Amino acid sequence: MSTNEWEAPRITPMEFHQLNKFGQRRVRSDAQEAIDGVPVATLVERFGSPLFVTSEQRLRSNVRRLHQAFASRGVKVIHGWSYKTNYNGAVCNVLHQEGSWAEVVSRFEYEKARRLGVPGNRILFNGPHKPRAILERAISEGAHLHVDHLDELRTIEDIARRRGKPVPVALRVNFDTGFSEPWSRFGFHLESGQAREAIATVQSSPHLELVGLHSHIGTFILDPRAYAAQVRILCGLMKEVEADGHTRLDYLDIGGGFPSRNALQGIYLPPEQAVPDREEFAEAICAAFLEGTAHRLERGDERPALVFESGRAVVDDAQVLVTSVVGRKQLPGGCPAAILDAGINLLFTAFWYNHDVRLASPPRGEPRETVLYGPMCMNIDVVRASVQLPPLQPGDRLVISPVGAYNNTQWMQFIEYRPAVVMIHPDRAVSVIRTAEDLDSMCAHERMPAHLAHPDNVIPFPAVG
Ligand SMILES: Cc1ncc(COP(=O)(O)O)c(C=O)c1O
Repeated sequence: MSTNEWEAPRITPMEFHQLNKFGQRRVRSDAQEAIDGVPVATLVERFGSPLFVTSEQRLRSNVRRLHQAFASRGVKVIHGWSYKTNYNGAVCNVLHQEGSWAEVVSRFEYEKARRLGVPGNRILFNGPHKPRAILERAISEGAHLHVDHLDELRTIEDIARRRGKPVPVALRVNFDTGFSEPWSRFGFHLESGQAREAIATVQSSPHLELVGLHSHIGTFILDPRAYAAQVRILCGLMKEVEADGHTRLDYLDIGGGFPSRNALQGIYLPPEQAVPDREEFAEAICAAFLEGTAHRLERGDERPALVFESGRAVVDDAQVLVTSVVGRKQLPGGCPAAILDAGINLLFTAFWYNHDVRLASPPRGEPRETVLYGPMCMNIDVVRASVQLPPLQPGDRLVISPVGAYNNTQWMQFIEYRPAVVMIHPDRAVSVIRTAEDLDSMCAHERMPAHLAHPDNVIPFPAVG
């Protein structure tokens, strides 16, 4: 017969930050013992802990549903997979197989998309830093360039002049929708006249052709009206630029920013209540888009394509992090703390989300407020500052979710090896999609000058000082 550890009786004060809007404590007492039908214990036995676990099935259904939400409203839509969100090759290829293009923002991301086999004409090239050599390659491969600033525009014009062939470009613009904090760092500012100046520069150049407008209004946007306003502004600008009689835009790109079902810190309601459904975003966007592009049909033309570049809404809930308790502590105030083998080195998003944390085995004992630390020798390595969990023991596994967005790209190689990333396929087979780091991979980029090759070498130089 198994016995539970004895716990002293205690009274738990109902502290404000622990309560939901019904005055109850948010307690997650259900365990997550399997991921897509594969037991967590088996995954850890085979691939170690910590471990990122990606669901191919969820990834596919997320992007299909998003696509469907637009297509079912009569809009020709293209999804550009935002590489920076998670550029693991297997993740990217699942999405490319589903028809997503690549949305890249750097030389590295462009080269990675091409290496994965994405043709240039299915790559959207954003970002403020596109060195000349990569621009030349992207132009020769027919990528869709989204120009960020005037210096870049001049470089592209110069490349086009030397090639003796006009280059199609889209301009990134930024503006205030009135519903979300404006992002004015990227692209050309509309209200100040910069965007119209850039448009005029393109339209008057024999070497450039304006084919699209792009804007990305921010991330984790919770109000669908922000997108409706964005689309109205872009459609208005499209009408203006097409008034010259020969410009004809192929697409309007609304960027990314749809929220995932993650618990953003500082938001009182749980994600199920705070985050609108994808259908609400699609409805707001498509209604504004169909209205704003109707003039095209009136003149016997087709509507432009609508491009969206969703990152976190596609991948966040398709990945979890499995971590193990390595030790326990009683903090001076009496609160229990657990030290985990995964910290902010792997979970960059712990800075702005209160991730869901569940035991991977049936809980023993009553949940209570617990602090979760990572393994870094740093005070800021806090995975959850306060979460209700049953008493933890070394060796317990925890499942942290959703973690698919921005962690496998923004994680830090700091102090610890980064662990393996696996993918569970629809038939429950499991593949490693990124191997765990080891000493060789950590040191692969280092070079040792000959006279430093041995720590006990006698220094052959005159004494310093
Ligand atoms: C240009 C662009 N597109 C798409 C995205 C993806 O955003 P999200 O993950 O919020 O959908 C980003 C993220 O910053 C971005 O900068």
